[in-house]
Amino acid sequence: MKINPFFLVALCLIISSCTNTSEKDLIEQINPTEPITYSEHIKPVFDSNCITCHSSPAINGAGVSLTTYNNVKNSIENTNLIDRINWQPGQGGFMPLGGSRLPQNLIDLIMQWQSEGFVE
Ligand code: HEC
Repeated sequence: MKINPFFLVALCLIISSCTNTSEKDLIEQINPTEPITYSEHIKPVFDSNCITCHSSPAINGAGVSLTTYNNVKNSIENTNLIDRINWQPGQGGFMPLGGSRLPQNLIDLIMQWQSEGFVE
């Protein structure tokens, strides 16, 4: 049986594109011509790093809940969220409290989302 080499190449591409999505892959998959959106890119970051305390309602003394688009947008606009994730662990007010600093590419992603006008 003869196998068309183009078919093989296509098959390899299909297989290699079907991996599961970690936060790192998420960044690599970002299409630079599409805006950063809350639902696709931003929510997963907050869900995995912040909502253990910033749930709805917030627990452990965390002032605001960060579970919805409006929560996160309001917190960036009014409660210093961007500064807090940019500080170093150990500095007063650093977030995530008691955790390690978010990877720089995720911090950049959140700031890019802000500068693009908080696309939902
Ligand atoms: C272990 C619990 C915990 C986690 C996880 C956590 N926070 Fe907090 N957060 C707190 C507490 C407690 C406060 C209130 C004390 C303070 O202002 O520093 C707070 C306050 C804040 C505030 C200020 C709210 C206000 O009303 O002024 C922001 C913004 C914030 N956190 C963002 C985040 C972000 C973003 C993450 C995830 C990257 C995060 N936090 C993860 C516990 C947490």
